[in-house]
Formats: sequence, structure tokens, C-alpha cells
Amino acid sequence: MLLKKVISIDLGTNGVRCYLKGKGIVVDEPAIVAVNNRTNKMVAVGRSAKTMLDRTPSHINALRPINHGVIADFDMAKEMMRVFLRRSVFPWSFFTDIVATVPTNLTEVERKSVVDLFKENGASRVYLLEQPLAAAFSNRLDIYRPTAYLIVDIGAGTTDMAIMSMNGIVVSKRLKVAGDYFNHEIIKGVREELQMYIGEPTAEDIKLAVGSAIPLTGERLDITVRGRDVASGLPREVVVKDTIVRSWISPGLENIEDALHDLIEVTPPELVGDIYKNGIYLCGGGSLLRGIDELFKKNVGVDVTIMDEPLTCVVRGSGMIAENLSDHKHLVDTAVVLGDPRT
Ligand SMILES: Nc1ncnc2c1ncn2[C@@H]1O[C@H](COP(=O)(O)OP(=O)(O)OP(=O)(O)O)[C@@H](O)[C@H]1O
Ligand SMILES: [Mg+2]
Repeated sequence: MLLKKVISIDLGTNGVRCYLKGKGIVVDEPAIVAVNNRTNKMVAVGRSAKTMLDRTPSHINALRPINHGVIADFDMAKEMMRVFLRRSVFPWSFFTDIVATVPTNLTEVERKSVVDLFKENGASRVYLLEQPLAAAFSNRLDIYRPTAYLIVDIGAGTTDMAIMSMNGIVVSKRLKVAGDYFNHEIIKGVREELQMYIGEPTAEDIKLAVGSAIPLTGERLDITVRGRDVASGLPREVVVKDTIVRSWISPGLENIEDALHDLIEVTPPELVGDIYKNGIYLCGGGSLLRGIDELFKKNVGVDVTIMDEPLTCVVRGSGMIAENLSDHKHLVDTAVVLGDPRT
């Protein structure tokens, strides 16, 4: 066996996470790049770029190169990953492979672009692994058994739902309603109903502080935020209540429930029986929205479990698969292996 090293990567809309055998999660950074428009050069990446979001001088542009789980700006995504992957913790050699997790239902072009990004950053081979499979693996669901599991990953840019059985995805669906969508609905709601402009970070603060899928008891019910008055243009503050936030995000939650119904409708009946028995497994940052499990349980009619470590389960699962890639090759059998210098 050659001195083979494998890096597992979850290239998310909101965050990039990398996992190394024996070391665990070695990168957990916002997927944000700050660019100087005058020179077209990257000036900051990750956490330091995030602090610039919405607060940048006019010639600095903070952008997210991943959009809805898909590479939207190849050059910037490549630069961002170059910075992260050049950290000394990474075992670069001629034989360093990458297992990159991807959402379901990507086009061939989108998949190839993930492969190219990591090839151009020095990977020997690039394997693609569907994110719901990785999440299921990390939570030790026995995906080799002839029973079906329904995994729903509510991230920032995309909600990815997949029914898997006997180590493969049987049916899946992806929609663009997820954490970012909720933030945009909050920005819109504050503007239209409370007559104040706010930016994305404030919307995120509101969602985390008082966002919920069902009415709450015994929890924080309002938050005071600052922004710019729509009419006067002057700074002011408003109190935002949980009830109004719920009214803004509920239509998005209904979209996710509709997609769940659609997915179950096209699932073979035997597997639907398994889902009834096993319930739904939620992961991704969106699964941390208060009461989302209760809401789905009520409206879909099956038990809902929030997976352990919902933000990092995809990268950890892919790390576990990468540790024994030869045993789990069939899980990455859709892998695109291109231009391997050894072949
Ligand atoms: N407690 C919380 N309540 C509600 N939403 C939350 C909470 N914590 C995190 N989130 C949301 O989760 C999202 C980030 O989740 P995650 O890290 O799974 O996304 P990602 O993997 O980067 O994106 P994607 O999978 O869509 O490409 C953000 O939109 C964030 O606002
Ligand atoms: Mg994700």
C-alpha cells in the first residue's frame, strides 16, 4: 500500500469543512472570499472575509463562491480552497486523494467542476460522495440493510432529501429553500412590515435568536435589532417578535414539506413502509431551527430525529468512508476519477 492520504471535504454554501483521518475536522470556515475590485485580487478568505460581509468599503466585495450547494464562481472557489488546503496540517504528496461531498441531483457539468477544482488544487484522485449518504454513515445508520432511510439535509443554500436503501440512493430531491432563503424572507419581512432595512448578518441573528417553526414556550420571544429606516434613511432600532418571524419563514417550511410529500409519493410502497417505521432523519444547520422536528412530525406523520452533530455530520461521515475507501468503494461508485497521474 502506498503512502496514501485522503482528505474529506464538505464544500457547503455557508461553510467549508475538511476532515483528516486521525485529526478530525481540521478546517471549519465560512465559504466567503473578499475581493478587491480595483485589483481583482482576493484580500481575505473564510472567517476574516466573513467579518467584511455587508460592511465592506465600496472597492472590497465579499462574495460566496458556492451558491445553492453548487460552485457558482469557479476561480474564487478554487482560490478559497487553495488557501485552506495549503495549511500545514494537510499531508500533500503525489498520492493525496480527495473525497468531496456533493448534493444529490447535480448535473454532470456541476460534478465535473467539483472534480476540476480539487484536481487543480493538487489532488491525485477526486471521489464524489452524495451528502445524504455521508450524513447517514456518520450517524451509524445501517445503510447496508435492506431497509429505507429518509435523510433531509437543510443547509444554507439547499435542502437535499434522499431516500436510501441497501447503500444507494433510491429517490432524491433538492430545492433551493434553506437557511439563506429564510434569511432573505426575514430581510424582506423587516423591510415591508417593520419599515427598516437590515443586512444578512442581522437577519441571521434574528433567526438564531427567535426563529422557530412552531409556537414556543418558555423561550426568548423577541430581539431588538438596528438598521436603517426605510422612509427617513436614518438609523433606528425595532423589536422583532418570534410570531412575526414565524409568519415570514413558514411559507418556506411549507415548501420543504411539500417536497417531502412529493418525494414520498414517488417512493416504492415497501420503502414507504420502512420510512414510516424508521422516521425522517434531519441534518444541516437548518435542522437546528427550533421546533422543526415537531412541525414535520405533525405534518408528515412520521417520527423525526435530528442527527448528532448536524452541521458536521456530512464531513465526518465522508471521513469515515474515506478511512476505508476500499470497503466502501460502491458508495462512491459514481465517483469521477480523472487524469490520475498513476493511470
Ligand atoms: N440554530 C439555528 N437555527 C436555524 N438555522 C440555523 C441554526 N444554526 C445554523 N443555522 C443555519 O444553517 C445554515 C448552515 O447550515 P450548513 O452548515 O449545514 O450549510 P452548508 O452545508 O454550508 O450549505 P449547503 O448544504 O446548503 O451547501 C445557515 O443558513 C444557518 O443560518
Ligand atoms: Mg451542506
